[in-house]
Amino acid sequence: METLTLQLDPERPQEDAIEWAASIIRGGGLVAFPTETVYGLGADATRESAIQKIFKAKDRPADNPLIVHVSDREMLSLVARNISREAEVLIERFWPGPLTLVLERKAEIARSVSAGLPTVAVRMPKNKVALELIRRSRVPIAAPSANRSGRPSPTSAAHVARDIGGRIDMILDAGRTTIGIESTVLDMTVSPPVILRPGWITREMLAGVLGKVENAASEEELRRSPGTRHRHYSPRARVVLIERASPQFIAGLLARFLESGPVGLISHTVVDIENPDLEKIVLEETAAAYARSIYSRLRELDEKNLSVIVVEGIDERGEGAAVMDRLRRAASEIIEGDG
Ligand code: TXA
Ligand code: MG
Repeated sequence: METLTLQLDPERPQEDAIEWAASIIRGGGLVAFPTETVYGLGADATRESAIQKIFKAKDRPADNPLIVHVSDREMLSLVARNISREAEVLIERFWPGPLTLVLERKAEIARSVSAGLPTVAVRMPKNKVALELIRRSRVPIAAPSANRSGRPSPTSAAHVARDIGGRIDMILDAGRTTIGIESTVLDMTVSPPVILRPGWITREMLAGVLGKVENAASEEELRRSPGTRHRHYSPRARVVLIERASPQFIAGLLARFLESGPVGLISHTVVDIENPDLEKIVLEETAAAYARSIYSRLRELDEKNLSVIVVEGIDERGEGAAVMDRLRRAASEIIEGDG
């Protein structure tokens, strides 16, 4: 299959391009599109055969359910039922935006979207291309992140093309995504609501509106968000996460890894080693800077066939919790450090 890529203006997406993409969605095809978090791989959420194509293109396990994207409040009523007062308040406050709500599923949504669960995850993305595409398609769009299953989520059209080019009909390219990590997933079918996946909308922000919100802690809760069980967000190289460490500690670790081959480093601490076998990337020590570039930097380093990629962690407060969650999932080894 040939994958067509269309360049779009993120602020004023060209109508004819959107209409073309929408006609592919309505015809049961696959279109990758940007959201404010990461690129998604979209298909008509009401059409079982189209949803099957998503799982196939991504090599995604069938037990990992998809997020349904809507463009307005009315479309939500096609997707979910018995929407609580609390959910309404969150929708009012955070949509469009990077908050996914798990609600009771309506029968119109294809079964495999929910991987057999009685619930459905839904959000309204804050991105003009995404919203226009959904609106013109006139159907809710199921869209997981547009990466090959297990790989870091795509934050540019080039990442999508690299992972699943040739397996999908179209990519809408509107540049890099702004947030860079996936939405918060909040289960609203339990009381108090439970965060199944941390994201840019933090626990503190949700608690400010709802009062009590819990983090998924138990195995039982994680079983309800099957995606969190699978190994995730990983480049091919071995990723070693250092939680907190002094420059000396990091330098010592790097020296040791460099004995067995080329090494990559993503850190906020500037480490004073010059070695042709060391690829260094320095990021600002903020959750925003890390979120925005962590996936693309991991992909970039992974192209260089390194034996190890060392990543230095950040403060876990606020939005840092989501960044650290993704780093821990990408890591094959976590080192506490001396910090
Ligand atoms: O920011 C995002 O959320 C991106 C963009 C494209 O919207 N999408 C995304 O989708 O990250 P995906 O498929 O990569 O992750 C969906 C997550 C998985 O952890 C999945 O298990 C969970 O949402 N999920 C989906 N439906 C669920 C449900 N009914 N109950 C519990 N968890 C659900
Ligand atoms: Mg994903």
